[in-house]
Amino acid sequence: MDKAQNIAIEPLSKVLGARIVGLDLRLPVDDSSGDVLREAFSYYSVLCLSDQEIEADHQADFASLFGKVDRSPHRPTDNPNERQSTRGVMYVSNIKRDGKHIGVLPDGEMHFHSDGSHRENPYRATSLYAIKVPNSGGQTMFSNLAAAYDHLEEETKKRLEGLTANHVFNYNKTRREDIPKNAEAYAEHPLVRTHPITGRKSLYLSRLMTARINGLEEKESEELLLDLLDHCESPEFVYTHEWVPGDLIIWDNRSVNHARKDFPREQERLLRRFTVSEPGTSDDEV
Ligand SMILES: [Fe+2]
Repeated sequence: MDKAQNIAIEPLSKVLGARIVGLDLRLPVDDSSGDVLREAFSYYSVLCLSDQEIEADHQADFASLFGKVDRSPHRPTDNPNERQSTRGVMYVSNIKRDGKHIGVLPDGEMHFHSDGSHRENPYRATSLYAIKVPNSGGQTMFSNLAAAYDHLEEETKKRLEGLTANHVFNYNKTRREDIPKNAEAYAEHPLVRTHPITGRKSLYLSRLMTARINGLEEKESEELLLDLLDHCESPEFVYTHEWVPGDLIIWDNRSVNHARKDFPREQERLLRRFTVSEPGTSDDEV
């Protein structure tokens, strides 16, 4: 095996995340470095590489190190600076050009969630690259769901054993009362999941997308969900990332939730997103 490029790993916070130093993603990542990145990704859940001057193809290549990059187009890019060959790219933005939004910015993102949890096969990872960020606000918060699970009372851990919950597509809703109970796009997942690489257990639920725990009365389900959601979102489990243009982040949707902070609408924010799926799964889900 070839020698890994000169990579340094620096923790971003006490709770999760690491900064990867020493890689220029305009250049190919060698096999050993790929192994180092994948191990750090599983262990730290969030990786940040700063000062990257990359185009969409570079970001897609980077995301491919962690699984299958979704190649089906989410929506037209409307961005003349991007190479036409790139598919599967989505822009997260409030910017308008010629009266048209060049990306999406649903309000629901401001609640913690895990991308694609409404799918039978949720996204393994999500990658965001910061092109333009506001002077204030617009940070992304990450919550460590494995640490949140570890800190539950033993009694609660027992209560959660074997329980599943329904997750729905809810990005345009901002209140839990508006969660559609009979949404077309929904999936049932265990409330506690075991990470396939680290073997760590974590909670799997979110304020934005988890509608209800199966097998419990509606009131009991909502009370338990709200208790668990408050617990997951307590500051001791959360890292807040202040974006700088050139930051590339990839996070593990199996072990962290994320949420965007609000920002002044007159300021511009533009991030480029790729999702990473489990290999062998279909691109056809909503
Ligand atoms: Fe998201």
